[in-house]
Amino acid sequence: MKNTFRLGILGSGQGSNFVAIADAITAGKIPAEIAVVVSDVESAGILTRARERQLPARFIAPGKFRTKLDEDAEREFVKVLTEAKVDLIVLAGFMRVLKGDFLRAFEGRIVNIHPSLLPSFPGLESWRQALDYGVKLAGCTVHFVDAGVDSGAIIGQQSVPVLDGDTAETLHARIHAAEHELYPQCVAALARGEISVAGRKVCWKK
Ligand code: GAR
Repeated sequence: MKNTFRLGILGSGQGSNFVAIADAITAGKIPAEIAVVVSDVESAGILTRARERQLPARFIAPGKFRTKLDEDAEREFVKVLTEAKVDLIVLAGFMRVLKGDFLRAFEGRIVNIHPSLLPSFPGLESWRQALDYGVKLAGCTVHFVDAGVDSGAIIGQQSVPVLDGDTAETLHARIHAAEHELYPQCVAALARGEISVAGRKVCWKK
């Protein structure tokens, strides 16, 4: 039997990036399957959207901290993802910083999408940061996750223009649409084994 590349998707929000990846898998554009979807938010749309697709979807209570998982939660996340035999962890709007034991358990196998052209505007509400700064190009970045915040090696980026008259909402919507193109392409390349990493340099084999 063929071993399928297994994804564990983590999200805290509405899950539109999850949907873009799930749809790309259904369309045969990503040679992978979604093994499990996990959220730290019980009411997150990503869990509803996963269940609508009959995919395993789990809420794990994050514990007492606001920006990271507590020890018990971290252990539970690692257990669920290990039992699901995931090859790659895909952060799709997961709003907590992952720490030591989690990173060690899946070293080099965690990717994230961030709504800016990193290294500009790491952190929260990057589209608002970009608008306030006055840049003319904004965009999104898919990167490996390391111990820093939005600091891992960059896999792919897609730019969008900042238009006169943009509001935080219109710019965010344009970036979101770019994310839905970029993330499935990056996950497909990872699933096909077309990505190699040397330090901070990520190469796409064609
Ligand atoms: C996306 O814009 C993603 O880039 C951002 O959250 C949104 C999730 O949307 N992630 C971060 O800011 C991570 N620091 P979605 O739930 O519709 O996929």
